[in-house]
Amino acid sequence: MKLEFVNKQSFVSAALRKEFHSRKFSTTPQVANKLNIGGEEFVSKLLDRRWALVSPDTKIHQIKVFQHVKLEQAGYFGNILFRNNPNPLLGDGMLENSNDHASFYVVRDDLLHPLVNGNKARKLDGLLPLLEDNSVTDVVTCGGCQSAHAAAVAVSCAERGLTSHLLLRGEQPETATGYGLISMLYGNATYVPRALYAKRDTMLASHAEFIAESSGSVVWLSDLFEASFMNHVSKKPISVQTDAPRLSENIKKVSIINEGAGDAAGLLGVIRLVHYLSQHHIFGKDQALNIVVDSGTGTTAVGLGIAALCLGLPWEVTAVMLADTFDGYRNLEQRLVTEFLSCCAFPLSPEVVNKLNDGIVHWLERRHPRKFGNVLKGEVDTCQQIAQQTGILVDPIYTLAAWEQSTILSREEVGGAKIVMLHTGGTLGMFGLAQRSSIPGIWYMLTILLGKDIYKYKCSTEKVFVMVEWDAWPLARLPGK
Ligand SMILES: Cc1ncc(COP(=O)(O)O)c(C=O)c1O
Repeated sequence: MKLEFVNKQSFVSAALRKEFHSRKFSTTPQVANKLNIGGEEFVSKLLDRRWALVSPDTKIHQIKVFQHVKLEQAGYFGNILFRNNPNPLLGDGMLENSNDHASFYVVRDDLLHPLVNGNKARKLDGLLPLLEDNSVTDVVTCGGCQSAHAAAVAVSCAERGLTSHLLLRGEQPETATGYGLISMLYGNATYVPRALYAKRDTMLASHAEFIAESSGSVVWLSDLFEASFMNHVSKKPISVQTDAPRLSENIKKVSIINEGAGDAAGLLGVIRLVHYLSQHHIFGKDQALNIVVDSGTGTTAVGLGIAALCLGLPWEVTAVMLADTFDGYRNLEQRLVTEFLSCCAFPLSPEVVNKLNDGIVHWLERRHPRKFGNVLKGEVDTCQQIAQQTGILVDPIYTLAAWEQSTILSREEVGGAKIVMLHTGGTLGMFGLAQRSSIPGIWYMLTILLGKDIYKYKCSTEKVFVMVEWDAWPLARLPGK
């Protein structure tokens, strides 16, 4: 078998480059470095608190990208082959790596927890201690029917003796799979009609009031986060706090977490991750990096951007937009930055305000844009190819998007900035695909006509290319139910 390192020009077509959004990332790492708006001291103070994860450590792998002269594979990557080095040289050793061949690093946050996605574990890292410090008994949050966030909250709350209440959009599926199954097993899942779900804040607040009953109280997570900067941040170990009187009194204190933990408190754990990665023996503070992440709400990407800016790192953040428009992500970025900086009482110079307004994240269109949740023909094959060649599982909804982008950038950046993909997890999403189907109208009609077996057959063969959410497709009305 003849392998060749991929050459820079051949892989990225001009058309592909055009997909970069016209509004380019304008905060150059060098400028951020000079600004040094927060610095090590600010970040150290910010991180001097209690965490859910015992340590911020994570595994790092390096993926080498080869071009095979004769190989023709199904899926996106054609004759591209991947090889995984699970013990790459880091720290000073990275400089020895001449970087003249295409490769990218993968931060294996997908390995942090078997059921909690990597980016959820990061968001919950700083958030869960806030709940415990405030003697919260119950958590209310919401998400789609295959919400990784809802599942992560359910598992993490159960691990700490908190009760979770998950409001999931749409109709209850006939068979629970993937994240939906985890939410149901670990938490109290309630399916909410889409019309009600559309008014999220009202829905969350009224459900929280219902759970709290007349004797209890309700608090939004954002208020707890803000208060944590005014009060002394507790660093007591978790075990000391578990016997709080709340349990014996049976008075509920309910906290509301936004969909996708799109809260400023969710940024803390991501900032902790960047601080960890910027240590001398990992990526260091001088090496130019481009961190690639797949974005749902966009919170993880914003956390990465804030951390890089505060620490003055020469790192860019490239976020592949999956669930919203560029304007939607920019609004989210501005909201989170404002919320975060106002809570931290951060002194803002006009220069910094301009910088933040320009943007700290490079929001990028997916290589093949589609309605969120849709999976295109060949993508499951591509996930299979990556899994077989590297031992790393990506899912077509989220992490495949970051993998594709990292592959493209690794070709462009040969000899330049090192590419680092944050693997956010998403593995259970693969097992949720069984709830989806191709060409819904046709399959629905056939299923109605011929019975449920045809649906099962189609699911098991995975020959799908247009997929819809289960709750958008009235399978609950199938014959035989
Ligand atoms: C695997 C995976 N990656 C990325 C995201 C999106 O993260 P964020 O909402 O922080 O953009 C999610 C959200 O559910 C996810 O499950």
